[in-house]
Amino acid sequence: MNTTLITGASSGIGEVFARRLAAGGHSLLLVARSEEKLINLCNELGRIKSTRAQYVAMDLSERDAPARLFEETQKRGLEIDFLINNAGFGSMGDFAKLDPQRELDMIDLNVRSLVELTHRFLVPMRERKSGSIINVASTAGFQPVPFMATYAATKAFVLSFSEALWEENRPHGVKVMALCPGVTDTNFFEASRMQRPPARISQTAADVVDTALRGLARGKSSVISGWTNFLMVESERLAPRSLVLRTAGMVLRKTVGGKE
Ligand SMILES: NC(=O)c1ccc[n+]([C@@H]2O[C@H](COP(=O)([O-])OP(=O)(O)OC[C@H]3O[C@@H](n4cnc5c(N)ncnc54)[C@H](OP(=O)(O)O)[C@@H]3O)[C@@H](O)[C@H]2O)c1
Repeated sequence: MNTTLITGASSGIGEVFARRLAAGGHSLLLVARSEEKLINLCNELGRIKSTRAQYVAMDLSERDAPARLFEETQKRGLEIDFLINNAGFGSMGDFAKLDPQRELDMIDLNVRSLVELTHRFLVPMRERKSGSIINVASTAGFQPVPFMATYAATKAFVLSFSEALWEENRPHGVKVMALCPGVTDTNFFEASRMQRPPARISQTAADVVDTALRGLARGKSSVISGWTNFLMVESERLAPRSLVLRTAGMVLRKTVGGKE
């Protein structure tokens, strides 16, 4: 059965992807750690005519999780024709003072698991000459971000990796796209132990998902959600990198209360 696999579907952007795609008639496989939330969401989505929603509860930062998830799809006879690698979290603070294990867990989830899931599901898509993959990066992936050093670096990886795969897979009928949201109103800030930015600069998860689905339909290699975010990224590209770095450092140093 043709199925869309969404990681991090228990809340925020992933949950909105699930609702939107269910309404469009996609069969879904939803993955996250919070089993109860997934059960409730699947029950709710299952009531939509022609939608089949099922879940796997797992911690994708565990080393063998992507392999177990792939095997589970095979056991259930699911053909994944749309993969949305969305699960992720961040951290904020002076890198030297952050818990190194949490930083490594972030790399395992945001990067390692995303790469392995992409590879495992891309190969059969290539054989079938069709499929789509959205990898959720961030506007933080366009420049180094002091005091969010590891998180921004993981998203720079996701952006670069996905754009490269877009070009590699163009002749093979598989679309790969990086989605770059800016500040979005989700549970991300609590989960990432970050101070929540002011609501006025925030988009909704629905805005982000709209941008993503439009971009994918147009065959884009990456999309930035929101005009303000787009202009910010473009202006940072034009400015000297050292200036961008110092300015970001100045702003975030105040937020985390770091030494000048
Ligand atoms: N919100 C923003 O401002 C923003 C901006 C740019 C990019 N992003 C990116 O957007 C993506 C979605 O985040 P969001 O904003 O929707 O935040 P969110 O509401 O916190 O959602 C994160 C999702 O990832 C899942 N997840 C976290 N750790 C996991 C793990 N170890 N294994 C499996 N699933 C895990 C969470 O579910 P469980 O806790 O149930 O596991 C949840 O479903 C992330 O990649 C994030 O980096 C967010």
